[in-house]
Amino acid sequence: MERIGILTGGGDCPGLNPVIRAVVRKSFLEGYEVIGIKNGWKGLVENDTMPLDLSAVSGILPKGGTILGTSRTNPYKKEEDLKKVKENFKKMGLYALVAVGGEDTLGVASKLVKDGLNVVGVPKTIDNDLSATDYTFGFDTALNVATECIDRLHTTAESHHRIIVAEVMGRHAGWIAVEAGIAGGADVVLIPEVPIDIEEVCGIIKKRHSRGKTFSIVVVAEGAQFKDKDLILHEQKLDSFGHVRLGGIGEAIANEIEKRTGYETRVSVLGHIQRGGSPTAFDRVLGTRFGVKAVELITRKKFGQMVALQGNKIVDVPLSDAVKALKTVDMDLYEIAKVFFG
Ligand code: F6P
Repeated sequence: MERIGILTGGGDCPGLNPVIRAVVRKSFLEGYEVIGIKNGWKGLVENDTMPLDLSAVSGILPKGGTILGTSRTNPYKKEEDLKKVKENFKKMGLYALVAVGGEDTLGVASKLVKDGLNVVGVPKTIDNDLSATDYTFGFDTALNVATECIDRLHTTAESHHRIIVAEVMGRHAGWIAVEAGIAGGADVVLIPEVPIDIEEVCGIIKKRHSRGKTFSIVVVAEGAQFKDKDLILHEQKLDSFGHVRLGGIGEAIANEIEKRTGYETRVSVLGHIQRGGSPTAFDRVLGTRFGVKAVELITRKKFGQMVALQGNKIVDVPLSDAVKALKTVDMDLYEIAKVFFG
């Protein structure tokens, strides 16, 4: 019986467990044995695995996070780690590996394919910024959480006649900010793709207040930057993929708005609330479709491919295409959000 491995890497998100379950269930039908590699690429470096049979995945469909654990380990950072990955792939007796992750995890997967390993990819990230797929799973849940939070912030902002700045996730792309902003009726939406002109933001808010409104909601993606200032960072330390830890832009904007308009302004950082909890039905279905298709790719020996959603069809695309460039916000969509500014 051929053995396949599965790992989940990078930031966790709702929908990972439905993928794991689908891979195991479909593999069972195809006659593969499945092992889970713990904590992303770290598990391959350290030969840390767990058996994944039907009972191991029973009941995990509605659970957030990942039963395999995750990490931001980059095996290409150290030569000895990469050597161990290749050795352990053999030691584990893997015929093929399903790598579930975002740009970093799938970037590693793409390189390993070039190095001769049988790997297929499944696209995950709440940021929805992977190319070649219309949606990544996890995004819909994060979007719904953020929208609900904006609804809640509305009622309190209105009662207290305040401005509330809601900082949402989105490192390089503002998909959550734009879509939650549209769905939640935000008065201003700020995204990494468009540098922030704070005078313009204050102008929009003042105009809104001049027509009788006494509160406003500003949604900002954590990766957004001021036009005329350096990026606000939580700390300078880089992770093993070279990413800084973001955070603080909401606070900085709130301070500027209060200073420039005189309106009381508060900030609410949604943070990891957006990544936690049970996946929406959309993410459960998408994760399940991706998991089943990933096993089909292995059966058809289509290594180096990633499953993707295009229109309403699950297709496969080269991993290299998916990680080539980030999928940033569609400016037509941002223009729609702007219709409701102020
Ligand atoms: O990549 C998804 C994401 O949630 C980003 O939006 C965010 O910048 C990052 O992960 C946060 O990562 P961590 O949980 O490791 O701080």
